[in-house]
Amino acid sequence: MKEQNNDTEPIDNASSDEAASPAGKAASDEAASPAGKAASDEAASPAGKANSGEGPSPAGKTAPDEVSPPGTPPPTTPDPNLQPTEPGQAASGRGEPIIIIKGVCKSFGDHNVLRGVDMYVYKGENLVILGKSGSGKSVLIKCMVGLETPDSGAIEIFGQDISRLSYDELNAMRIRIGFLFQNSALYDSMTVRENLAFPLRQHKKTMTREKIDAISMEMLENVGLADAIDQMPSKLSGGQNKRIGLARTLILRPQIMLYDEPTTGLDTGTAREISELICKMKDKYKISSIIITHDMPCAKLTADRIVMLRDGAVYAEGSYEELERSDDEWIKTFFY
Ligand SMILES: Nc1ncnc2c1ncn2[C@@H]1O[C@H](COP(=O)(O)OP(=O)(O)O)[C@@H](O)[C@H]1O
Ligand SMILES: [Mg+2]
Repeated sequence: MKEQNNDTEPIDNASSDEAASPAGKAASDEAASPAGKAASDEAASPAGKANSGEGPSPAGKTAPDEVSPPGTPPPTTPDPNLQPTEPGQAASGRGEPIIIIKGVCKSFGDHNVLRGVDMYVYKGENLVILGKSGSGKSVLIKCMVGLETPDSGAIEIFGQDISRLSYDELNAMRIRIGFLFQNSALYDSMTVRENLAFPLRQHKKTMTREKIDAISMEMLENVGLADAIDQMPSKLSGGQNKRIGLARTLILRPQIMLYDEPTTGLDTGTAREISELICKMKDKYKISSIIITHDMPCAKLTADRIVMLRDGAVYAEGSYEELERSDDEWIKTFFY
């Protein structure tokens, strides 16, 4: 099945946040840094100020999990209502999933971070991934855009196994996937207008200045910041920067959005605004999203379905309300 951008704007493809890099190489964390020297999530901040990704959130920073002994499979919840489902089981009649993750394993040295992750996302769905700090959530979505390579298992996006794609094919696919990094930030030396224009200039080389301005303005209106177009990012609040970062990631109209802790470090009201924007953009542009968070109000607002990652695999799956009702002691630690 061939995927299409089924929306109104005549832009034919989309871009990841990395693609907005002045280095233009759209392939790594480093590329998100204008200085091009970043080596970690934190370093993806142009200012290099690396605000902590695990900063204050309403749910607080969760303690790392215990790890099962080697040779034993990762656990799943004893709650019969919250067993992980197969594609088709959870939501019949929704067509093929747009993302299928099968048995993905990933280790760093002897640290088995992902131990057989099975997960899928339907078209137009918001899937929230909950898991404690260090449980491999960021590693998993980095595997999806080729920033990390799984040791085994498969990831299919738009019906294509990403491990079988050539370099050029992978880059073409990345352009259809927007990635809002945990610490992604605007380029400090550019105005908001220039920040937004950047991915368009990279990927739409023939687009006129008028068109670029019109699209930039539309995206700023989407995030409620049209007035900020000629401001420098340093003059704007953290929440405003985050909203403009979202506008910049959406400007090339990704069909899939990957949000890594989109509300972390924001106050409660601003976090809520970002969560509402995620929902608004999903409805307006029919985006399918994976939202990693441990901000429970964000999960509640955005999730069509939640999967909980524990000990390198999916432990439980359900709606926010189903999970909230569970007697499972580990699940309860997320809901207080
Ligand atoms: N490139 C890497 N090299 C070594 N260890 C890594 C690397 N990336 C992540 N890890 C480790 O993998 C674990 C999961 O990391 P991560 O996916 O960032 O967790 P989180 O669920 O908090 O997003 C952590 O223990 C982290 O230290
Ligand atoms: Mg993370």
